[in-house]
Amino acid sequence: MKIDFRGKTALVTGGTRGIGKRIAEDLKSAGARVIVTGTKAKSGLKFKYYKVDFTDPDSTDRFIKELKGHKRIDICINNAGISRIDNIEKTKVKDWDDIVAVNLKAPFLITRAISKIMKKNRYGRIVNISSIYGHISKAKRSIYSTTKFGIRGLTVAASNELAKYGILVNSVSPGFVDTDMTRKILGAKGMKKVKGQIPAGRLATPKDISTLVLFLASDLNTYITGKDIIADGGYVDV
Ligand SMILES: NC(=O)c1ccc[n+]([C@@H]2O[C@H](COP(=O)([O-])OP(=O)(O)OC[C@H]3O[C@@H](n4cnc5c(N)ncnc54)[C@H](OP(=O)(O)O)[C@@H]3O)[C@@H](O)[C@H]2O)c1
Repeated sequence: MKIDFRGKTALVTGGTRGIGKRIAEDLKSAGARVIVTGTKAKSGLKFKYYKVDFTDPDSTDRFIKELKGHKRIDICINNAGISRIDNIEKTKVKDWDDIVAVNLKAPFLITRAISKIMKKNRYGRIVNISSIYGHISKAKRSIYSTTKFGIRGLTVAASNELAKYGILVNSVSPGFVDTDMTRKILGAKGMKKVKGQIPAGRLATPKDISTLVLFLASDLNTYITGKDIIADGGYVDV
């Protein structure tokens, strides 16, 4: 049994760094034509690239219009995400707007646009990236957790609507992954502390997450839909 994406077109949002970059690279090496997004102008990439900032409604609208022009998008990985942490009384409405726009509204708008294309082709695999903070939470994660619980709701609702068209929609909830986001939020000290709390004895690598995402996005997944799979080295017990 081999994972094979030849003939498939895949979109990976936030495919310039961290988890998304690894997913995009793995999809490409398994034969997919890959489209990635990021917020900065880039050239010389091995992927088709769209510059889009999901905190900016105009930029998002332009991107959604571009997406609608595609005849085939077989796979969609809603991965782009941001986190800002603070106590509830200190969080700014702007933080709410930005985090909700990137982590929740963009996946909804993309699902809305892409499901139409997938329905026509009677084929699709959507994988949304949630988080362990979509299952548990902790101080200073009120907005982030809200979005990560929320995307699990979108996953289940979309899976119910789309299963009859051959479109399977799932989410993946990573634990602590060694990426820029984790380095920024936890810092070296925080990462060392958390490492000691993970039964697997290490943080995840982007590859640990990509392997799972690729399975769910592939033809090897024929019957799993509306589910969330936690990949956290045993950190949470839910
Ligand atoms: N790291 C973890 O421990 C962890 C754990 C659980 C879940 N997750 C989730 O996994 C996903 C990827 O996380 P990561 O750790 O790989 O993050 P990362 O290294 O910080 O990369 C974030 C990606 O999202 C893009 N992005 C950032 N702001 C954006 C915006 N305003 N509009 C559109 N795209 C934007 C970035 O593009 P640029 O390069 O242009 O900035 C980049 O490609 C996120 O949804 C995150 O919540 C991460």
